[in-house]
Amino acid sequence: MDIIKSISFSQTEILQNIVDLHTGPIQADVTFGNGAFYRGTYQKSGLPWPQFRFDIEPRGSGIIPADVCHLPIKDSCLRNIVFDPPFMARTGPGAILKARFGELVGTIRDLWNFYFLAMREIHRVLAPGGWLVFKCQNGVLSGKNNNTYRQICNMAETLGLEWVDEFILLATRRMMHPNHKVQRHARKFHCFFVVFRKRPLWKEKSMSDQDIEKRFTYRPPKESQPKKYEILRASAKELAYLITNLCPDSREKALALTKLEETVMWANASIARNE
Ligand SMILES: C[S@@+](CC[C@H](N)C(=O)[O-])C[C@H]1O[C@@H](n2cnc3c(N)ncnc32)[C@H](O)[C@@H]1O
Repeated sequence: MDIIKSISFSQTEILQNIVDLHTGPIQADVTFGNGAFYRGTYQKSGLPWPQFRFDIEPRGSGIIPADVCHLPIKDSCLRNIVFDPPFMARTGPGAILKARFGELVGTIRDLWNFYFLAMREIHRVLAPGGWLVFKCQNGVLSGKNNNTYRQICNMAETLGLEWVDEFILLATRRMMHPNHKVQRHARKFHCFFVVFRKRPLWKEKSMSDQDIEKRFTYRPPKESQPKKYEILRASAKELAYLITNLCPDSREKALALTKLEETVMWANASIARNE
């Protein structure tokens, strides 16, 4: 048996390995470009084109013009998605929009923000248990070594996308800036294909930590609050008497009184937790 390795010099091989090991046939590519991922360079055949091919600037027929942050797809319906966005940010004179070559005008924060919005949208359209294959790269911008990979993993985690695997695409050559004299960081000769999985429903956290804190922390009443509680309770008491006197004894009557009690409790909680 051929072992599937985490490294390769061929992106088609990496994608093929991801398909075999994790995702099954690719259903959607949201930054399709000119479809280089699916060309037959590895084992000649290449990969079948995804059913859904999107790009903000489509080059070729059959590619749907769409912004990855606003996909024309219903919630929770895709099995897997490939995402290969622009991977560099650039500011200052000479910065032009070169999204198709992997560059986005703006700061590295703008680029990460774009990734966050895109991943949030991808999370929306993926079915629970669905896969995201994210091609990304670290790099140096204005002398700072940016760990984009780590950012993406952190953002994915908060969105409910679990890190599952990583593959490293190696390069033999990289362009060098002609004016580059002093080197402070390693020139990156690799990029990542990160495999994430949307948390299946049974693993979704039913409550965030923030929620738990909000719901289960005691709050001493503030000055104006006891008066409000009193008004609410007095009105509910009136209704409770009406229900008791007008309604025939029954399961429904008992439920009405219980729900009224609950209503007062929730109304009070809304004041206690949010004021
Ligand atoms: C690095 S290239 C992708 C190359 C592609 N994987 C291929 O095999 O040719 C980045 C692509 O993202 C597209 N793109 C940039 N911003 C986008 C957005 N907001 N929504 C969708 N596509 C976008 C660009 O048009 C470009 O085709």
